[in-house]
Amino acid sequence: MSEKPWAGRFTQPTDKFVEEFTASIDFDKRMYRYDIQGSIAHARMLAKQGIIAEEEARTIIAGLEGILADIEAGNFAFKVSLEDIHMNIEARLIERIGAVGGKLHTARSRNDQVALDVRLYLRDEIKEILGYLGRLKESLLQQAEKNLAVIMPGYTHLQTAQPVLFSHHMLAYFEMITRDAGRFQDVFKRLNVLPLGAGALAGTTFPIDREFVAEQLGFDGVTRNSLDSVSDRDFALEFCGASAILMMHLSRLSEELILWSSADFAFIELTDAFCTGSSIMPQKKNPDVPELVRGKTGRVYGNLISLLTLMKSLPLAYNKDMQEDKEPLFDTIDTVKGSLKIFADMIALMQVRAENMRLAAARGFSTATDVADYVVRKGIPFRNAHEIVGKTVRYCIEHKKDIPELSLDEFKQFSEVIEADIYDYVTLEASVNARRATGGTAREAVEREIARARKGMA
Ligand code: ARG
Repeated sequence: MSEKPWAGRFTQPTDKFVEEFTASIDFDKRMYRYDIQGSIAHARMLAKQGIIAEEEARTIIAGLEGILADIEAGNFAFKVSLEDIHMNIEARLIERIGAVGGKLHTARSRNDQVALDVRLYLRDEIKEILGYLGRLKESLLQQAEKNLAVIMPGYTHLQTAQPVLFSHHMLAYFEMITRDAGRFQDVFKRLNVLPLGAGALAGTTFPIDREFVAEQLGFDGVTRNSLDSVSDRDFALEFCGASAILMMHLSRLSEELILWSSADFAFIELTDAFCTGSSIMPQKKNPDVPELVRGKTGRVYGNLISLLTLMKSLPLAYNKDMQEDKEPLFDTIDTVKGSLKIFADMIALMQVRAENMRLAAARGFSTATDVADYVVRKGIPFRNAHEIVGKTVRYCIEHKKDIPELSLDEFKQFSEVIEADIYDYVTLEASVNARRATGGTAREAVEREIARARKGMA
């Protein structure tokens, strides 16, 4: 018998280069544990249904467990001639336990087998990613708790807009990462059904019990249509979509960390362990980690587009094209996990330079809106108030003064309604703390959100 499980109808051996070209073993071997886990559940079901003998199932399961131990000990030679992880393990099983090993593939096809393996594998990876997302949320929350007294400039168009608490800024990312976690949980829910039993595409003639296999493997149920079961890769697409959005968030945080750690902003200091120097400029400390994460966002977007393009217009059911789903998916998993792991630590160790943030917040007339709101509260329509404060700011620029430095007489040039109590409204603290409604930047509002977030994390 030829080495290849499907060699029966062939008269000539496969061309060597074709063999290499069509093989996926180099990358799909990372799913070995799940392939074996799925096969063990399948063998148990075959025996329970009387499709194979109990004794045969025991021999098969022992053989599979032996192979698992061999692979984990590094004692398994993966063969390109055996194409993929499924055939490598099956061929080794037959080598180990003899012809009975050939009964494992009864009522199964590689088409439903690979769909099962990817789901099992991705399920564990999602759990791990959710763990990393939790760690990053914890780091963001700790920074928010630690720096409640720190005021920074809030920006729109990257121009100083209004002062905000640094904690508030950290909690903005906490919200994004919380939504990301929700998206991965959604992917998990839709992914967690058993495709095995679809056979090659139409189902199987054997009296299988899919619900039993699903239960053994911890699935919430079984897929409902055999054609869809072997041709659906929505779960991989959804995963890559959730990953792309997550990386977009990390790229925005990266960009801010890069700006903030520059000499011009000097808002934060990243710990040395996460930076590198320059071979020529001795003063340099480069924010390589955020730069790389910002850069890696590109490949994660690319992987999503690759996968969408791969699946586009494919007729039902399985097509070999779909073997190309793995590399973009695996690369996304690796990139997302690496980025999250390093970000969780980097954010936790980030040092905040509160004084510089405060100085920056005081520049750029960041409390101009507070003056406008004050004038409005004295009965002036907002559009007129806007004009009044616009002129005030122009005066400040011409006289090189900041808003809180103006005398009451100077204020009064612009509006008679301004009184001495204006000074209670134009400090950074007053500006921040006036924004008390839910979701605002006032310290009390931020403290409420921190408490809420802490409860959610518990
Ligand atoms: N290596 C294949 C893949 O990743 C497994 C399924 C192959 N099925 C087939 N009939 N050629 O998609």
